[in-house]
Amino acid sequence: MTDQVKAAQPGEQAIADYYEALTPFWHPVARVEDIGDQPHGVILLERPLVVVRLGGELVAMDGVCRHLGAALELGEVVDGETLRCKYHGWEYDGTGRCVHIPLRDKAKIPSMARIEKYRCQVRYGLVWVCLDPDSDKPLPEYPQFADDEFHKGPISITEDWQASMPRLVMAALDDTHFSWVHPGVLGVAHDPTMPDRLTDDPVTVDEDGVLVSRYRTQMPANPMSTGDEVADQTETVPAEFYNVATVNTMTNVITGAEGVSVTFNAYSPIRHDLTRNFCQLARDYDKDPAKDRAFEEFNHGIKEQDREIVESQRPWMLPPLKARMILYVRPEDVPLVEYQKYLERIGVPQI
Ligand code: FES
Repeated sequence: MTDQVKAAQPGEQAIADYYEALTPFWHPVARVEDIGDQPHGVILLERPLVVVRLGGELVAMDGVCRHLGAALELGEVVDGETLRCKYHGWEYDGTGRCVHIPLRDKAKIPSMARIEKYRCQVRYGLVWVCLDPDSDKPLPEYPQFADDEFHKGPISITEDWQASMPRLVMAALDDTHFSWVHPGVLGVAHDPTMPDRLTDDPVTVDEDGVLVSRYRTQMPANPMSTGDEVADQTETVPAEFYNVATVNTMTNVITGAEGVSVTFNAYSPIRHDLTRNFCQLARDYDKDPAKDRAFEEFNHGIKEQDREIVESQRPWMLPPLKARMILYVRPEDVPLVEYQKYLERIGVPQI
């Protein structure tokens, strides 16, 4: 039995450490468009939360009632000001304080009758939550979102992946699997091409953990390289990639014959082995919204091809570099090595 298989399941402490290391970061938890006038339940790092508009503000709070632990996502918003639990009617205001308990007057509400409220903000059409009140981590950048030169499609959510979040980031960062996993789409079957790194220092990581990987490669005609439909071609055209990864986002900027296309991925770590992928496509050509569907289907097809591979990877969480349970080779795997080094620097623990 290989070490990977033996170590497939992380221990409880390893999972707890993983959650703790990711706690200071801003994580996407929902699309803004999915937040209506009633509570919306999400799970972040195995913690149930409720996102809800109270007192005119979008707030994120613990999703479990302080009374008998019922899910607050089952409750309802009262007069836009309080969230009422469905079980016995306790009501919480936008600070998380319980302000009404049926059958007793206000003076007799226990001071401990409150739920935790977390920092919450809307950016790029997504709701982001930070569980650490003292964290100074910045939100990931997505400059094309505010750039009117780019047409932005809808934000999609693929089915949740049975994999840890770093595995998804690394799948989008990996630039040598195209001919094996995406033949005729992003690469030519069984004819891998080593990406041509565009700088002497091809992969950089700044102090905020923003990793940049640039390269030029050959791709078959597809909506992102030429603006054309995929035709399972063996003829390829040049395409330039500018990839930007953070701990929980991955932006692929591809310059092809028609212009620039962008895939912005934001990953929500639901559990150590379950991840939600919010994704938006943007492009500065073919801006007709009627074309969005074709781009979406193309991207969805790529993701489904990746998903099968990523969900098969073991251990669930990345093993330490020094354990050499992953046998990286250079220069092919340099972006992955640098991303994992960054994870280790910020203390994302290993199995
Ligand atoms: Fe919420 Fe009783 S469990 S009010």
